[in-house]
Amino acid sequence: MTQASGMSDTPSLGRRQFMNLLTLGAASGAVGGMLYPVISYFVPPSSGAAGGGTLAKDSLGKDVVASEFLASHGPEARVLTQGLKGDPTYLVVTEDGNLEKYGINSVCTHLGCVVPWNASENKFMCPCHGSQYDATGKVVRGPAPLSLALAHADITEDDKVSLTDWTETDFRTGESPWWA
Ligand code: FES
Repeated sequence: MTQASGMSDTPSLGRRQFMNLLTLGAASGAVGGMLYPVISYFVPPSSGAAGGGTLAKDSLGKDVVASEFLASHGPEARVLTQGLKGDPTYLVVTEDGNLEKYGINSVCTHLGCVVPWNASENKFMCPCHGSQYDATGKVVRGPAPLSLALAHADITEDDKVSLTDWTETDFRTGESPWWA
């Protein structure tokens, strides 16, 4: 089937536009707060599950290819993808250019806005009511009551990124994960 006629093989235009908005919204912080309910509507609860996990997807709804991802994003980047249950989730590049072992759910724990990453401030800064989270997603300023949720992030044998539930102690707080 050709690309031109491959309607069933490609995301709908609406979804593409939506995912582009997701990218733009995350970058600008202007519309991020409006998007999470839309994400939940468009993305099925389980997409691309592998070994009980979910394959991270890019802004076009395609599986993230780990080697390409790491080649195109510099150290300490935080890049929004679709993660567990379709939640917008940041993949993190480590200082030495590898994939961090955890992804950060971008849904603000105050009222659910998508929280943009602000690289110059080295924080996640919510545009809705001013909550801030450090580079690991730990809350550092309210009104958000809790840190951003975590997911395990691992590179699969076929060079994809698998996200799985984080049920262990939250390394940022030393407490049980509130989201588990
Ligand atoms: S929704 Fe993020 S601070 Fe209120």
